[in-house]
This record gives sequence, structure tokens and C-alpha cells, in this order.
Amino acid sequence: MKQETYETLDYDIIVIGAGGSGLRAAVAASEGSGLKVAVITKSLLGKAHTVMAEGGVAASFGNLDAPDGWETHFYDTMRSGHFINNYRMVEIFAKEAPDRVLELESWGAVFDRTPEGRIMQRPFGAHTFRRLCHIGDHTGLELIRTMQYKAIHTGIDVFQEVTMTKLLISHGRVAGAFGYFRADGRFVLFRARAVVLATGGWGKVYKVTSNSWESTGDGAALAFRAGADLMDMEMVQFHPTGMVWPPGVRGILVTEGVRGEGGLLYNSEGERFMQRYDPERMELSSRDVVARSIFKEVQAGRGTPHGGAWLDISHKGPEYVKMKLPGMYEQFLTLADLDITKERFEVAPTCHYTMGGLRVEPETCATNIPGLFAAGEVACGLHGANRLGGNSLSDLLVFGRRAGMGAREYVAGGVALAEVDEAEIGQEMERVLAPFEREGGVNPYHIHERLQEIMTNHAGIMRSGEILEQGLQKVLELKEEARNMSIQGSRTYNPGWHAVFDVENMLLLSEGIIRSALERKESRGAHWRTDFPDELPEWQKINFVERYDGEAIRIRTEPVKEMPEYLAKLFTYGKAPGLVKQSEKKEA
Ligand code: FUM
Repeated sequence: MKQETYETLDYDIIVIGAGGSGLRAAVAASEGSGLKVAVITKSLLGKAHTVMAEGGVAASFGNLDAPDGWETHFYDTMRSGHFINNYRMVEIFAKEAPDRVLELESWGAVFDRTPEGRIMQRPFGAHTFRRLCHIGDHTGLELIRTMQYKAIHTGIDVFQEVTMTKLLISHGRVAGAFGYFRADGRFVLFRARAVVLATGGWGKVYKVTSNSWESTGDGAALAFRAGADLMDMEMVQFHPTGMVWPPGVRGILVTEGVRGEGGLLYNSEGERFMQRYDPERMELSSRDVVARSIFKEVQAGRGTPHGGAWLDISHKGPEYVKMKLPGMYEQFLTLADLDITKERFEVAPTCHYTMGGLRVEPETCATNIPGLFAAGEVACGLHGANRLGGNSLSDLLVFGRRAGMGAREYVAGGVALAEVDEAEIGQEMERVLAPFEREGGVNPYHIHERLQEIMTNHAGIMRSGEILEQGLQKVLELKEEARNMSIQGSRTYNPGWHAVFDVENMLLLSEGIIRSALERKESRGAHWRTDFPDELPEWQKINFVERYDGEAIRIRTEPVKEMPEYLAKLFTYGKAPGLVKQSEKKEA
């Protein structure tokens, strides 16, 4: 092999990932700090899963429902997370979300308004009050548009289409990241005093998914290999409503905003089947419940022709639908040749979000590796066993900012750029180029396809010990096979080469999902086990934490932190604090 070279770029802080949380972190790290900050993405600036949070950003303004407040948002988030959330993260989140939304507005985000001129809020599943601030059904897109503009004006550098293959650790702290430019394969070393990971989730490990090609869990896998802890990996969210037909669009998101605006779910017998599963909240039950209900209806033979449920919003009339859900109207018209103002349409669960991820400190988003921070979907703790719709956008605003500030404070502590081991870089370049050297090996796309099949069949919505065990064996075998991934062609614009690293990351995280799912011997939130169908109190006290030693994944339990009295008492009445306030007022 010829002597390989690489470029070295020095920064105070690098942010890996250019979606909502990465951009928010970059602003916090850069604005007014005088620090040199770079955002690095394997895709394009703002091309991220953030845009798939279409229906809104959750913040308890109470613009339409006055009794709403942070306490009720806290209550709803903990309840829907089935109490394995990190309560402190939830508290920070519920308290700070409104300020972050107003800040976003001050940076130029244009929200829909109430007749009085306030930010409009819509209902969403398992939120007690109308809480989702929105821009039609393209809220995530508007958030990204605003953040892109804001971030690039803080003086950050942006590196697009760069794959990071290794996180560098020196003397126990983060030293930067190594990778290559996807356009021409040139190697690059980013030395940094602190690193923020904001690379999103790993929804691409499933066959039917709302995620686009970027969601391969790169940041989580890189950090895991470097010694960071992952937590709650068994918790994967299947959004109840993905498109079903035609086959080419299966999995594309149908926003929960459709149900928020009055859309109704029916089975093949014309029955509003949510009556059977959650008669009180019906279509606006939590995502885990609605997804499972659709799955059960299909299993019981009451599914639609292509294996889903009917969703109908046509009763709201064309004017209303086009005003409130313009994106959905267009999406179905262009992709399915179907007018949702006139016809019902088929929907079925689609993998949407990974609640598990890097274990972080609530205040700073610091991981267990000094100098390494994480925010957004790559991190864990806020959502517990099931995420509420709309909480992802406020999550990335609240914790993106905190991660950027955490990194900034860490750097302000005087930490210097660490020396990087030349030999380690040499080995990494050799490893990254190895797929070119192997002849007749296995194609990374084939491995990915088989992984998706395995994960869908063995670690999907419905799980059992036996199915998971089989899945684990299959993933381990596939991992062995993947050691022999090979590619052809050159380093210039070679998507097969990039896929090798995506697949390695997904294989590692898939193993993490299954191992954790095997350990949690109960059903809780999104984790449904037919061999342990009940939610059991003793498991409410436990998070599963995984550490990778380079050979094997070790799993341990950690106690869920107990809420202090002032938060615990919010649950004493068995109904949301805002509802308690409301009824007290009425009585008075
Ligand atoms: O359905 C949706 O609009 C998705 C929102 C979210 O995941 O937060």
C-alpha cells in the first residue's frame, strides 16, 4: 500500500451532525465565544431527520389551553416514557422548551398563529393539552431553515459530505475525529478540544422506516467504540402512521398532525378500533399504543388490503385539510395519486425514532468520556420507553443548546488540544481502505438488506425471548460475514465504500438493541414482549447500560434516579397537574 497522507484541521469544538441539535449546539458553542467551531456532516447542512418531525414542537405555552404549564408537560413526558426517563432531563426540558421556541421565533421561524396573534398549538397523542407549536405540517423544516441561517452567521465552519470513521481518545479524553471527504476519499483529521455528537438515530436498521439514508447511528457507534455508555437501547419507536401504498413509498411518515387535526382510524370492518385499546384517548393515544393497536388489528385479520389501517381526514373538508396539512395533501397526491381531502388512505407503523442512545449528564450533555458531549436523538434519557410526538424538536433545541454550552465551558476550563497518536491514524487509514483490497467479499448493501430483515422480524414491534435470541444469533453471524465486506472502484464518489462504515455502525447498534431487549423481561412503552406482556414495577427502577470493550458488549443495570418530592407529588392525583388546577378553580 502506498504511503497515505491526511490533512489536519484544528478546532476548539467540532460538532458532528448538522441537523437541529447539531446546529443548535454549534450556535451555543460559537456565538460570542471567540472559539473556533466546525460542523461536520456526512450529508448536507440541515439534511436531517429533524425535518421528519412535521406536526410541531412541544412547548407548554398554554396559548389555547390556559392550564398548561411545565408541570403538565413534565407529567405527560414521564408518564409516556413509563417512568424510566431521567427525571432531571425531563424537568429541564419542560421548563426550558417555551424559551427555546420563542428564541427560534426571534431568529426568524414563522409559526402559524391564533386569531389573537399567538403561536398556534395543536393536539398530539398523549399530550394533555394542545401543545404543539407548528408551521402547517412542515415544522421541522422551518426549524432547520431558521437554524441553518442562524448558525452560519455565527462564524462556524461547515464541512459537508465528510464521513467520520473514528473518534480519537488521548489520555482518557476526547482528542478529535478522523475520517475522509466523500467526494474524493482524501483523509482528514479534526483535532478538537471538545466534540459534540449530534448524529441522530439508527432507524435505518429497520426495513420500514421514516428515516432517510443518514440515520445509521454513526455518532453512537463511534462513541461506543471509544468507550462511551449507551442506555435503553431496547427502546425503539414505531410511529403508528407511515405510508403503506404504493410499495415504493412504504414507511414515509404520515404526520401525527393528521390525527391531531381530527383524522380518524378505522379497520377493514369500518370500526374505530382504538375504542378497543384506549377508549379515552382514541386516535390521540400515545404512539406505542396506537402502533401496537394497528399491528394487532392487522394480525387479527382486520387490516386494509396492504396490511395497515385506514386513516380518514376527508370529513374536515378540503379547505381545512389544505390549510392545516398542506404537506400531507401534496405527499399523497404526488406519491400515491390520492386526494386526502376526498378519500381515506392506508397507514401502518414505521420505525421513526430511537429512544436509546448515549448516556449523558442532564445539565451539560456530557458523556462519560471527558470532552465528549451528545444531544438530540443520539443521546438518551429524556424520552424513556416512549417519546411523545413533538418532544423531539424541543429536545434538540433545549439539549442542543446545553451540549454546545457544555462543550464551551469544558474548553474554557483550559484544556489543550491533545496530541494524536500517528500509529493509530496509520492503522485507521489501513482499516478504512481494507475493503478495496479484499477480492470477492460481500457487498455492504446486501448485508444492510439482510440486517433490516433480521431486525424487522426479530426486534420489531412485537418481541419475545425466543425471537430475540434467534435474532441475536443472526446478527452475530452477519457481523462475522461483514468482516469480509469488499468494494470495487476508486475512492472518488464511491457510495459502496461509505456504506461499509454505515453497515458496521448499524450492526454494532443492532446487537446493542437486541441484547438490551433480551434483558428487559417485561413490556414497557415501545418494548412489547409477548412472553412478558405486563409492565412490572421492579423494572421501572432500572435502566440498561451497555459498554463495548472492543470485543463484546457488556450490559449492566443502573437504578433509575428517584424524583425529588416536589416532582413526585405532581403524580399524586392520578391526573395532570393542569387538570387538577382547572378542577380546583371550578370548585372555587
Ligand atoms: O408525526 C409527526 O409529525 C412527527 C413528529 C415527531 O416525531 O416529533
